[in-house]
Amino acid sequence: MNQQAKPGLHAIESASRDEISALQLERLKWSVRHTYDNVAPYRAKCEAQGVHPDDLKTLSDLSKFPFMTKIDLRDNYPFGLFAKPMKEVTRLHASSGTTGKPVVVGYTRKDIDNWADLIARSLYAAGVRPGDMVQNSYGYGMFTGGVGAHYGIERLGCTVVPMSGGQTEKQVSQIMDFKPDAIMVTPSYSLVIAEEFERLGVSPEDISLRVGVFGAEPWGEGMRGEIERKLGIDAVDIYGLTEVMGPGVACECVESKDGPVIWEDHFYPEIIDPETGEVLPDGSEGELVFTSLTKEAFPVIRYRTRDLTRLLAPSSRAFRRIGKIGARTDDMLIVRGVNVFPSQVEEQILRDKRLAGVYQIHLSRTGLMDDVEVHCELQREFTGRLTPQEVQLCAKELQHHIKTHIGISTKVVIVDADQLPRTLTGKARRVYDNRPKLV
Ligand code: DLL
Repeated sequence: MNQQAKPGLHAIESASRDEISALQLERLKWSVRHTYDNVAPYRAKCEAQGVHPDDLKTLSDLSKFPFMTKIDLRDNYPFGLFAKPMKEVTRLHASSGTTGKPVVVGYTRKDIDNWADLIARSLYAAGVRPGDMVQNSYGYGMFTGGVGAHYGIERLGCTVVPMSGGQTEKQVSQIMDFKPDAIMVTPSYSLVIAEEFERLGVSPEDISLRVGVFGAEPWGEGMRGEIERKLGIDAVDIYGLTEVMGPGVACECVESKDGPVIWEDHFYPEIIDPETGEVLPDGSEGELVFTSLTKEAFPVIRYRTRDLTRLLAPSSRAFRRIGKIGARTDDMLIVRGVNVFPSQVEEQILRDKRLAGVYQIHLSRTGLMDDVEVHCELQREFTGRLTPQEVQLCAKELQHHIKTHIGISTKVVIVDADQLPRTLTGKARRVYDNRPKLV
């Protein structure tokens, strides 16, 4: 291994491409075999496709292996794709599924250890240093953001302030009192925090923060500029997803701010054509696919993230980077950092026998935060039979169910039967996303 590692970096972060590829191949062989041997549904998929771990001789042989998708996770809910017995699983996390059932993932002690290392590596890349204080404002709980980031902050040798999300006034007063050096939070919520500082008349130079590490939702250069200006910080992009690990699959370097660096010694990336599944050359726009190289409890082989982006050549580190993630190939929405599938909203609507299955989700942004309106129709037999108060109560109940089961606040508007426009050809249009486009 190249021993001329830069100070503060792991040697592999400045290794040659040959060294990286050799390590990837060795780990890939282990990961594919581990998954094949221990995850029966994956083995069945390989058998159906006529491939075996012995067929993996080079990195490009991976393209012969089947993909894993969110459907595989749904079909094997909750633990069917785990490669380790539960007694070796130290922790569970979960993310939104396409239906009421979430996607559940598990970690062994070693997986947790690697995750903490990768968050620490990400924070270092972002410009956070041992001894810094970091306010962690990602939500704690089943979401990977809060708890995942927490252990990495500690691992780097920082002081963690486990604030979690929400309580904007407290977020701000704590920053004023504790004077943290860095914050980890969704980019949209960081602007809410910035606005509260503005309201209090605190100017950016009087805010202690030096760095913000933002992710969990798409954000563009326009938003980066706004956050940096309003908080007086460097705003750095961190990427990840529950199925692959959580935050810290990739993270930007503060010195270049040119797209998250993929920690390629733990995750092997591919870009595919989302229609044909064909692997595309670096630089082409397509769907990002990840294979975990070291995960024990929940390995993923060619997991289709549904995120559309490009693989970019290395810059500040020896690993490749991903371009900004603008769109997805499925209908998942990210609303205030929460992943939402329209089918989850539909499920809640259809719980109420008075409501029909025709609905619309309208997204807009007034000021800084996303607003969500759900429009739905009464069934014909209830139209004209309910008093306005009863219709309003029905809307309140749906609002409550969406909040408790999906986790987002909405405004619900209920109209009479046949009032919403029908799509006459093709798929019904459910989502009207009027939020400003990313720049
Ligand atoms: O959002 C993990 C995370 C937490 C990442 C905190 C960064 C910071 P999920 O809830 O499973 O996991 O959502 C994963 O969110 O497939 C992307 O569509 C989107 N996403 C995550 N990070 C970014 C980012 C976490 N930096 C899904 N830019 C992913 C754009 C992002 N989209």
